[in-house]
Amino acid sequence: MNIRPRRNRKSEAIRSLIQETRVTTSDFIFPLFLLEGVNDSIAVDSMPGIYRLGLEKMLKEIETCLSLGIKAFDIFPVVPEHYKDSAATRCYDDGFFYQQALRRIKKEFPEACIMTDVALDPYSSDGHDGLVKDGRILNDETLEVLGKQALSQAACGIDIIGPSDMMDGRVGYIREVLDSNGFTEVSIMSYTAKYASAFYGPFRDALDSAPKSGDKKTYQMNPANQQEALIEADLDVEEGADFLMVKPALAYLDVIKLLKDSYPQPIAAYNVSGEYSMLKAASSKGWLDYDRVMQETLMSIKRAGADVILTYHAKEFALLNR
Ligand code: PBG
Repeated sequence: MNIRPRRNRKSEAIRSLIQETRVTTSDFIFPLFLLEGVNDSIAVDSMPGIYRLGLEKMLKEIETCLSLGIKAFDIFPVVPEHYKDSAATRCYDDGFFYQQALRRIKKEFPEACIMTDVALDPYSSDGHDGLVKDGRILNDETLEVLGKQALSQAACGIDIIGPSDMMDGRVGYIREVLDSNGFTEVSIMSYTAKYASAFYGPFRDALDSAPKSGDKKTYQMNPANQQEALIEADLDVEEGADFLMVKPALAYLDVIKLLKDSYPQPIAAYNVSGEYSMLKAASSKGWLDYDRVMQETLMSIKRAGADVILTYHAKEFALLNR
């Protein structure tokens, strides 16, 4: 045997010399859930370790995370039921608690990269990402609302808009609205290949944003399809997306790899709520070693080709690796 692969595994020093993939804290965007009000913090039962935070609590959390090296945050509002309506009007209300909080966060931490989600579900009494009429999700009528939502968020000074609604044509529509209002510097991270996944369950618990009837299969992609991600990605690139995202991550590593190999744009992966909860649940039973499976999971997403990882593990990873 003149080729013995084990020679390159014989010590930690050699293993680390030839390590192909490295995950670092600067790869992450940390999703945070914002509560109306200031000082509350309410645990998300299905996501142990994750809390919905009032504004003051969130400012402290961002400060701590910045000191740990996490530089980017995706902020989702928990919208109380009485604010929801069928036209999701609060999503573009500049005076709403979410927009107020975004302005305050950018004022306190101008160096932090702040991302927001563009989709109607948290604000909609139907719980869908688009407008609903007679049980159907309207595409073109929804674009107009998404454009107003993106504009309202951009006006708060946020850095990246994340359209997660899966309406056709939304990236181009939003780009046009942003540009014609002077927000040419605001980036778009498109949820390019967003699948109709059961792994979003705990997130919908956290935001109380589950659809009131039906499911999201007429706009989110069929988990069986890989090639269709190329159609979405072609459109997003043409329409001006700065990043292409695959979501969920772990059950869709092949799609991450496909997009990484096919496009020069940075690829993001959303390691979603249910993927987080699985590791927490199994490790709370003593069946898995949380610190190890968490890091192995993030490594696999990076190895598949993700440049950016949206993950609820961000802070725990940063604490372990500081
Ligand atoms: C809103 C949105 C969802 C997630 C991110 N943005 C839920 C959904 O589409 O139903 C899921 C994130 C997660 O599960 O962590 N459209």
